[in-house]
Amino acid sequence: MKKDIQNREDVTLLVDTFYEKVKANTIIGPIFNDIINVDWQTHLPKMYSFWSSILLDEHSYSGNPMSVHIHIGSRTPMTEKEFSEWLRLFNQTIEELFEGSKTDEAKNRAANIARLMQYKIERGF
Ligand code: HEM
Repeated sequence: MKKDIQNREDVTLLVDTFYEKVKANTIIGPIFNDIINVDWQTHLPKMYSFWSSILLDEHSYSGNPMSVHIHIGSRTPMTEKEFSEWLRLFNQTIEELFEGSKTDEAKNRAANIARLMQYKIERGF
């Protein structure tokens, strides 16, 4: 049986494994690698804090993900196709590594945030 997500170390493993898949993905990889040319040294710790704040009550993330993604959407298509691929990779990663109530919460939160993000991008704000 797999363990649930319990601490920042677990979140780090989730985030690192997920973004390895993202980088190698033909649909969304180029957005990170080429269009935005993400600085991974900055992005990964931000994502550890983002997910730890959501799942572990850590309150270590401050930022505005919606405006960041609206900006990305102004530079490259961010449609149903890209979001469903992002979610597919996220769910695949998390199911490979963990199971339990925090794991389910992470999947639900990711799906809800993705839906809201896509909606805001489509509407242009
Ligand atoms: C098609 C889907 C997505 C793409 C292509 C994408 C792409 C990106 C990129 C390129 C960045 C880095 C921006 C930079 O370094 O300047 C970023 C940041 C981020 N993404 Fe996404 N993203 C997607 C979906 C999501 C979803 C669904 C979530 C949340 C569940 C999310 C959460 C974040 C957060 C928290 C940041 C950091 C924002 C900050 O700077 O504070 N992303 N994303």
